[in-house]
Amino acid sequence: MIQDPLFQPLRLGALTLPNRIVMPPMTRSRASQPGDVANDLMAAYYAQRASAGLIVSEGTTIAPLGKGYAWTPGIYTPDQVAGWRKVTDAVHAVGGRIFAQLWHVGRLSHTSLLGGQQPVSSSPVQAKGVNVFIAGEGDGVPGFVETSEPRALTIDEIRDVVDQYRAAARNAIEAGFDGVELHGANGYLVNQFIDSQANTRTDAYGGSLENRLRFLDDVTQALIEGAGDASRVGIRLAPLTTLNGCVDDDPETTYLAAARLLAGLGVGYIHIAEADWDDAPLMPVEFKQKLRAAYPGVLIYAGRYTAERAREAIAAGWADLVAFGRPFVANPDLPERLRTGAPLALHDRNTLFGGGARGLTDYPTLAAAAA
Ligand SMILES: Cc1cc2nc3c(=O)[nH]c(=O)nc-3n(C[C@H](O)[C@H](O)[C@H](O)COP(=O)(O)O)c2cc1C
Repeated sequence: MIQDPLFQPLRLGALTLPNRIVMPPMTRSRASQPGDVANDLMAAYYAQRASAGLIVSEGTTIAPLGKGYAWTPGIYTPDQVAGWRKVTDAVHAVGGRIFAQLWHVGRLSHTSLLGGQQPVSSSPVQAKGVNVFIAGEGDGVPGFVETSEPRALTIDEIRDVVDQYRAAARNAIEAGFDGVELHGANGYLVNQFIDSQANTRTDAYGGSLENRLRFLDDVTQALIEGAGDASRVGIRLAPLTTLNGCVDDDPETTYLAAARLLAGLGVGYIHIAEADWDDAPLMPVEFKQKLRAAYPGVLIYAGRYTAERAREAIAAGWADLVAFGRPFVANPDLPERLRTGAPLALHDRNTLFGGGARGLTDYPTLAAAAA
């Protein structure tokens, strides 16, 4: 292919991405304990994948109360900033670019992950039947437990959380990240404000669509302040998935309004999560074209893309970048494989979360496998 759409460079703020392939955020639960600190092993993993046009880090928590899974990294202590500095240095040393995904899980947590405290959300609505991963209470045996009943954040507490987001963005830039991505998808805290069925508030943060988008607006403005430039801020949204119990009654209206709001704030990109695992509702092309019309910045799509579908999406104009999640786990040289049509290795599901180097840094490149 003379003009492969996947290998056309793209400007993102001050960055020039050499290709249209994104490594999307993927939690791998290997942060050093105690302290939830990113480490050398994680640095090696991300550096191996630096040929991506852009890497977005695994979700990294902005505060202790934002944590929902064992061994996930944070970005609110000096040690955590120093840990991430190893990662960004390693990625930049081999020519890559990396944003930090900023994460607050809200109600998707368990008291044992929060030092006995109750999880917080927009509303006192439990995500029923949803499990989170814990390191194990008492016996220390890891496993899944149902989320704990959350309580609603007060208005003062909402301001505190917005401040935590701002501080996390500052920390991310101090740690050497090229920008930050707000995790507004997959049923976590921001999503718990946006989606009508998760938000039962009757104050300025609930009820009308404008009110349900107020937290997104506040947090995005705080991230722009923290990161110092709107082009260094991206937002991940999941309009149609019902993951983790977050459902909106009118997703097209809600998310087109969110896109217009983010256009007004001038953020660098919107990252649409179409699928997470098996939850992959069909997102109509007309909806994607409306998002394109509502938001003039960079649009990323993720969810079971193949090289062919990604090329079509970029050529059609509704996507600028396409993210490949699971394929990046087992194919550190994924862009080269997509360029040449080489076969893709399959990942081992048993080593996705937790553990050490096995299943993280030991997948070979094609060149290494051939040698
Ligand atoms: C192991 C694993 C961990 C994930 N962790 C996150 C995460 O921390 N934040 C997030 O927004 N999405 C997360 N996702 C979703 C991916 O970013 C992506 O949207 C999803 O895997 C669909 O893309 P794919 O079909 O190309 O894998 C995760 C996915 C996987 C497979």
